[in-house]
Amino acid sequence: VPAVLAVSGAGFGIWYAVSDVDTVGEVDFTNPLAIPPLLTGRQEGGRRVFDLTATAGERRLKSGRATTTWGFDRGHLGPTLRATRGETVLVNVRNDLPETTTVHWHGMHLPAAMDGGPHQPIRSGETWSPTWKIDQPAATLWYHPHPHGRTAHHVYRGMAGLFIVDEPAASAARLPSRYGVDDVPVIVQDVNLDDDNQLDEGYSRIADVGILGDTLLVNGTVGPYFTVTTERVRLRLVNASPARVYNFGLSDDRPFALVGTDGGLLPAPHTTERVQLSPGERAEIVVTARQGERIVLRSYPPALGLDPINSRITGGDDRFDVLELRAADQLSPSPEPAATLADPPRLGVDATAPATRRFELAGTTQINGLAMDMNRIDFGVVRGTTEVWDVISPFPKPHNFHVHGTQFQVLSVNGVAPPPELAGWKDTVYTTPEVPMRLAVRFSEYADRNVPFMYHCHLLLHEDKGMMGQFVVTEPGQTPGTPPHTDHN
Ligand code: C2O
Ligand code: CU
Repeated sequence: VPAVLAVSGAGFGIWYAVSDVDTVGEVDFTNPLAIPPLLTGRQEGGRRVFDLTATAGERRLKSGRATTTWGFDRGHLGPTLRATRGETVLVNVRNDLPETTTVHWHGMHLPAAMDGGPHQPIRSGETWSPTWKIDQPAATLWYHPHPHGRTAHHVYRGMAGLFIVDEPAASAARLPSRYGVDDVPVIVQDVNLDDDNQLDEGYSRIADVGILGDTLLVNGTVGPYFTVTTERVRLRLVNASPARVYNFGLSDDRPFALVGTDGGLLPAPHTTERVQLSPGERAEIVVTARQGERIVLRSYPPALGLDPINSRITGGDDRFDVLELRAADQLSPSPEPAATLADPPRLGVDATAPATRRFELAGTTQINGLAMDMNRIDFGVVRGTTEVWDVISPFPKPHNFHVHGTQFQVLSVNGVAPPPELAGWKDTVYTTPEVPMRLAVRFSEYADRNVPFMYHCHLLLHEDKGMMGQFVVTEPGQTPGTPPHTDHN
């Protein structure tokens, strides 16, 4: 029986109106890590076709009663979808939930009408069938609901899955790539379970940033271990939590190779001891194991100066175990990752280019002083162009910033060139208070003056409370149109 020890109310920041914030306690690694099933779909009319069903279900997380959850196909989380650059995909998403949901393809380049944001509701009993051509580098993307004002609830109940994009040609990157063997999804979510093992969504447990849970789930497993059978293992880390920031490292502080971020592989492996992910962000790391040993993937208090959300709340000592890697007595050989992995993002603007737009994330409910309005398009951008965006979170509240429908390039952080972990394609960035981030954002080739893309804070409570805006991609010379009238009932 995994013992998860809740340590309540450890020193929260003064400006958080909250009385009961938990830290994740000690973890016994007694359960094999669940690996989400891999869906490769079927070929039909020149397209790769997938079927997904959003459904309620349950999952046995701890001893005692099973936990009521939501998910895709199985009642908790969802299968991993996998497709290759150049293919056209079609996904039939059926909603068997008792309420309207949506499915957003986080990190995908695609037309706005296929994006699965709040303007593409799937009502209970209906099926939505978006289709698009995969046209972006190999990456670890993910999917999750995005219903207006209800995203935190749907994701927290377990609605999240991976969407892996591959390159058509055999990769020269030499990364472990056998799914579930040496290429392993690690979807982390923290939840609060009540005495009856049910998910606690109660507002008494919600901090100013949203829920910080006392129980950590990795692919839906409490206290997970994974048996490593190869010298190197690639972990695809996904922060699918409502609010928590993880600062991943290994138990003996051994270095690992950070090889990929949100939108693809880094230009070169970055050897490091830590990688920090705020909600929505992903990282691919390659860990080298020695036969017979046990290594623990942990989350450490984020580094000083980064001013992380949870550290503020838990008194600066948010540290806990995530996953145990158990190396077999014999490990089959894996090559060292190549020294060059991918071309760096080059959107043709430099850090001195003047910003086109500025986004100020102040408080918890607004961007640039406005809360999200489904009927207001905040601005239009021209199809295929690149803009320079400045994003700032004024003191004291940290946030993060996610843009739909594209991957962007970080031009600078506080006026200087980005560190290696921000040197690749990104769709979500953590915004430390008072530290400006300058981004180069290239927009879709698909214009649609009426259907908006979202930009928002990916702390799901903030997103739901209105820290989100909408833009449309237009033809040159066009003005933004009118968003569809979308209601979620
Ligand atoms: Cu991962 Cu707008 O979302
Ligand atoms: Cu926020």
